[in-house]
Amino acid sequence: MTSPKNGDPPTDAHQASSLPQRTAKPYEPFEGASGLLFEQAMAQTRMAICLTDPNQDDDPIIFCNAAFEELTGYTSKEILGRNCRFLQGPKSDPRQVAKMRDAIRDEDVAVFEILNYRKDGSTFWNALHLGPIYDTDGKLKYFFGSQWDVTDIHEARAEERHAKAMAREVSHRLKNVFAVIGGIVNITGRAMDARPVSKKINDRIQALGRSYEPTLDDAFMGTIEVGQAIRAVLQPYDPEGDRIHCTGDTVRTEPNAISAIGLTLHELATNATKYGALSSDTGRIDVSWRHDTDRHDRATLVVDWKEQGGPGVSGEPQSTGTGFNIARTLLTHSHGFLDTTWEPDGLRVQISLPLAR
Ligand SMILES: Cc1cc2nc3c(=O)[nH]c(=O)nc-3n(C[C@H](O)[C@H](O)[C@H](O)COP(=O)(O)O)c2cc1C
Repeated sequence: MTSPKNGDPPTDAHQASSLPQRTAKPYEPFEGASGLLFEQAMAQTRMAICLTDPNQDDDPIIFCNAAFEELTGYTSKEILGRNCRFLQGPKSDPRQVAKMRDAIRDEDVAVFEILNYRKDGSTFWNALHLGPIYDTDGKLKYFFGSQWDVTDIHEARAEERHAKAMAREVSHRLKNVFAVIGGIVNITGRAMDARPVSKKINDRIQALGRSYEPTLDDAFMGTIEVGQAIRAVLQPYDPEGDRIHCTGDTVRTEPNAISAIGLTLHELATNATKYGALSSDTGRIDVSWRHDTDRHDRATLVVDWKEQGGPGVSGEPQSTGTGFNIARTLLTHSHGFLDTTWEPDGLRVQISLPLAR
């Protein structure tokens, strides 16, 4: 075997890596494999590649390809003979460096992510893949390293982590705000001798809070899942989970739509508990939701509410109450509408809300 010189890839590297190894995964050599082929492949690939010689003092780089020069901004002359740690700088994580040291000592195949520095001082996140290469006698001959610039992915992940942390914080604060509002309403209601009124207000406020709560974790995506909000609002009215049947696609919508939908469903469920399907032991409610186009051809979120098995209905009640008025007003503000049909076997409602996006 010839020793590589002047940064040429060692020509027997391909033979060596198919031989008995300690931790590197063996592979079958393919017919026609030649040193030249590998030399050309290593030189030409767009992935930065280097080989180091652990049998020399401080494991210097003995080969690097053009992509390595391009990634780091150094020429091969400036690279060869140095240990790869010259790419590290003040913000490179020493814990990652220690892990690399251990992996190299144990001759492991391993992947690391470390902040590295180019010649001009700029930084990049390096996804580094390391592995040992053995000669025909199973003796450690080289280390192989491939470097991939994953700065974009790293930044996207950091942004997502940040957004999730913010959403958790907002969720926490929102819960507090709803708890404080609830407290204010209760105390004021007690002080003014208007407990039934304060209870009604509080139930509505808490329903609004419930509709937002489960969606906050992914609100950073700009849309939230409708089903999560619907189930959260209705859950207290069906603690056993066998009276209200929810079906819907994983429809997502903008967070603003949730207030109107959440409050409307709260009013419908309260009404059903007092007079409708939930006031008898046998009634059930089917709630379903979907994206559709409305009668004005607008992209719309449609929620259908169907009560059955409750006390018979003898037509539309004279007054549908404050709750329905609140729901109608909220929906009208958002250019949506509420269609109610009082069928003999129960109330049917369609909520329709045009979507901004
Ligand atoms: C083949 C090979 C490629 C390497 N490539 C890099 C690299 O691109 N960036 C880096 O920060 N460290 C790289 N290293 C790790 C360093 O050379 C060194 O092993 C690490 O800093 C731990 O050793 P130290 O504590 O003596 O510095 C590589 C190591 C090997 C064996």
